Amino acid sequence: MSKSKNTKLKSLNRRQALTGTLALGAGLALPTRFAIAQAKPLKLGLMLPYSGTFAQLGENITHSIEMFITEKGGKLGGRDIQIIKLDDESKPELAPQNADRLIKRDGVDVLIGTVHSGVQMGIHKAVTESGTLCIVPNAGAGAVTRNLCAKNVFRTSFSNWQPAYGMGVALGKRGVKKAAWVTWDYAAGAEAGAGFKEGFEANGGTVVANLTLKFPETNFQPLLAQIPGLGVDVVGSFFAGGGAINFVKDYAAAGIKVPLTGSGFLTEGVLGPQGAAAEGIETALHYGDGIDNPKNTAFRAAFKTKAGREADVYAVQGYDAAQLLGVGLEAAKGKIEDEAALYKAMREAKLDSPRGPVSFSKSQEIVQNIYLRKATGGQNKVTGIAVANLADPGTGCKL
Ligand code: PHB
Repeated sequence: MSKSKNTKLKSLNRRQALTGTLALGAGLALPTRFAIAQAKPLKLGLMLPYSGTFAQLGENITHSIEMFITEKGGKLGGRDIQIIKLDDESKPELAPQNADRLIKRDGVDVLIGTVHSGVQMGIHKAVTESGTLCIVPNAGAGAVTRNLCAKNVFRTSFSNWQPAYGMGVALGKRGVKKAAWVTWDYAAGAEAGAGFKEGFEANGGTVVANLTLKFPETNFQPLLAQIPGLGVDVVGSFFAGGGAINFVKDYAAAGIKVPLTGSGFLTEGVLGPQGAAAEGIETALHYGDGIDNPKNTAFRAAFKTKAGREADVYAVQGYDAAQLLGVGLEAAKGKIEDEAALYKAMREAKLDSPRGPVSFSKSQEIVQNIYLRKATGGQNKVTGIAVANLADPGTGCKL
């Protein structure tokens, strides 16, 4: 849909909304078109991976979105919620057509998605051109809240830069001098690498090598073979989901003595299958085990009942995406087309998040603590805060 067409459509919706409100205000007995429209459920599209290396991430996000809506009696802002799910398979090449299916064919009012940064970039055009409210529950692609930021796009997870920057800062401050970075060769790995380098080098360290392999490949041996010869004090990394399980196991099996660290996705939600190979790994993330607040306690218990497994960062991000939508719809009284009320409330939201205090930056990116964690006995135990209330720089965003 062209931008001008879309603007016309939106103003028509606003006019209809106004007519409806006035008519209702005048106490007419017959329902107006607007009143009928309001009675319809709000269509919420979930575009997430339900297959492939990130399948469990998509499932955990979905569980907690459903959990929050159930906690609210099935309604947000007075509207029933109808969920429409689509498996994006973490395949960027399918992203534009998948976004079109949800936005144009199914006519979703809101899109919560997705996990993979490349897929996020592939749906961003469809989202911004259609003006559909999009809440990103994981994918950290920087452009989404930097140069390509948009008033209808919010993120409740992180930017790829955030956790890795925190890890780099913590290592640098500790006096660590030389590091290598290892990752998949795609947006998330590269942006996390840039964050790590920035934090580390601003605090006295140097990143001397950048080793990559194609997403979602797991033949790590050629990379691992290079590490002992690099003379580094630490290895930083970005891997997640199924790939992270293999990487951590292969790293341990290779007998490399250099400590492994990275963005906390490396050990998040995967400590069970990683087993002893993960013991002692230190990472940085906006969540961890042992965050002591009443919301986290209640959330973890409810998630375990619903999903049959422990909550992780993905579950928290999904829950907060649903919470943020709830805040917006509450303020807009269920009228998704009342953008002024909707976006104002979302921008100003202070969610009661299981991860601790959060707010939103001007570029509609979540601002949050980056915790240091150590994998101990099957838990990512929080040991401190690497950087408090860390906001992505939002470079190039003009909101
Ligand atoms: C991403 O592609 O942005 C991504 C995927 C999985 C994660 C984190 C980031 O755990």
